[in-house]
Amino acid sequence: MATKEEQYSLVYKQIASLIAGENDAVSVMANISAMLHDCFGFWWTGFYRVEGGELILGPFQGPVACMHIGYGKGVCGTAWKEHRTVVVPDVEQFPGHIACSSESRSEIVVPVYQKGAVVAVLDIDSRELETFDEVDAQWLEKIVLLLPPIGSERDIYLAAGCFWGAEKYLKLIEGVTFTEVGFANGNTENPTYKEVYTDQTGYAETVHLRYNPSIVSLRFLLEMYFKAIDPTSLNKQGEDEGTRYRTGIYYSDSTDRTVIDEVVAEEAKKYGLPLCVEVEPLRNFYPADEYHQDYLDKNPSGYCHLPVALFELAKKAKDTL
Ligand code: SME
Repeated sequence: MATKEEQYSLVYKQIASLIAGENDAVSVMANISAMLHDCFGFWWTGFYRVEGGELILGPFQGPVACMHIGYGKGVCGTAWKEHRTVVVPDVEQFPGHIACSSESRSEIVVPVYQKGAVVAVLDIDSRELETFDEVDAQWLEKIVLLLPPIGSERDIYLAAGCFWGAEKYLKLIEGVTFTEVGFANGNTENPTYKEVYTDQTGYAETVHLRYNPSIVSLRFLLEMYFKAIDPTSLNKQGEDEGTRYRTGIYYSDSTDRTVIDEVVAEEAKKYGLPLCVEVEPLRNFYPADEYHQDYLDKNPSGYCHLPVALFELAKKAKDTL
């Protein structure tokens, strides 16, 4: 009979080779659940993902389970809140334990971290008391490190004056996974930089951001955006003047509108003035030439209207979600 150590050692190797090169987190979570469940005969094995400020049921094996768990609630919410693996020898002794199944007697919950944030938890239940110990904790913590990035990425388009500095600043924020500069919400097709520069095309110099909502929220990104603009200045940021340098928040998902309006209203209160920041659905976006992409990385002494201190701020900024 193999020891628990030996079983974990084997299942770890099997999982690692099965999921090597896979980057869809849902399918990897599904197969990790299936392999652990099969190998050890647990009662319930699966994941909850951090999404919209709560834990949402993810891929699992076993009986139906509750679909939402709040921050700090139950064993799962505690592991998330306290950033630690929680071993529960007897669920009846754990205050606030959420009984998805009355058969469950003991449990372990392991947080999944990405860039320092808890993005999911692995939850395993047993029908026996005292099933889990330090050995399970150590191996399961090692197994969850195999997961690819969790959370479907989202997009937002921010116009903040000259896009060279704006891109450099926004891409430093933790959770931003991709940026490109381009031209948004104008009236011509395939605009060139030269055409946009005439200020006759209606385009705004804009940064397209892709971000992982498990690591950074749209609200936080917008708050950081406001630190890098003068929202009371119409068509002028720094020394750059013209409608192409206007400020704007352009969204590709209409459900983002609520939080955008909230943040804009909060900022307007600070200034006691209506703001000049345009908020519109994204009508079009054309990436600028390669020359303009990551311009300040390629040309560190190039023109930038933003103060250096802002880049330091962005590097350290961390959303607490
Ligand atoms: N018992 C968990 C809830 C999830 S089920 O075990 C699948 C908890 O207290 O968080």
